[in-house]
Amino acid sequence: MGEDVTNSLTVPTPFYIWTGPLEQFVLGMLALGTPVETLLVGAFNDTGRGAQRDMDLTLHRDGEHDAQLAADQGGMYVEHPGGVDYVGFYCITDNPKCVTCIQMDDSHKVQEIILKSGQALIFDNRLMRHGRKGPVGERILFRLWIQATETGSGVRGSK
Ligand SMILES: [Fe+2]
Repeated sequence: MGEDVTNSLTVPTPFYIWTGPLEQFVLGMLALGTPVETLLVGAFNDTGRGAQRDMDLTLHRDGEHDAQLAADQGGMYVEHPGGVDYVGFYCITDNPKCVTCIQMDDSHKVQEIILKSGQALIFDNRLMRHGRKGPVGERILFRLWIQATETGSGVRGSK
């Protein structure tokens, strides 16, 4: 009680890690634009989308067709070309061995992030790519894809 919980999330420039309750994460993401897709990310299936399998994912941009990723996933890929501006991963259950990799388009450096329960990674999908390595195991993320709108905090095409 009494902790400083921010009600809104800010526009990622291009990424940050936020800590707070899931409800506030969802409301904060919705304030940035229109939801394109929500998905539980975890090791639920043996085939299909990589987001729901226990497999490494090469660096990619969500919503855009990537030949390598499609090949990795056996041809399964969901496309929303140009429609996924912001991505939010909220960690529901963590796994210290499961590593999220991110790389800004203007950098060669790949940063590694291990999300803990209650933490969220929010990033601009137009400005960076992401991937995953290590076992997914019991880790579950709640993922939201957002298309920025004029009324949201982010303006399409801007940083
Ligand atoms: Fe992804």
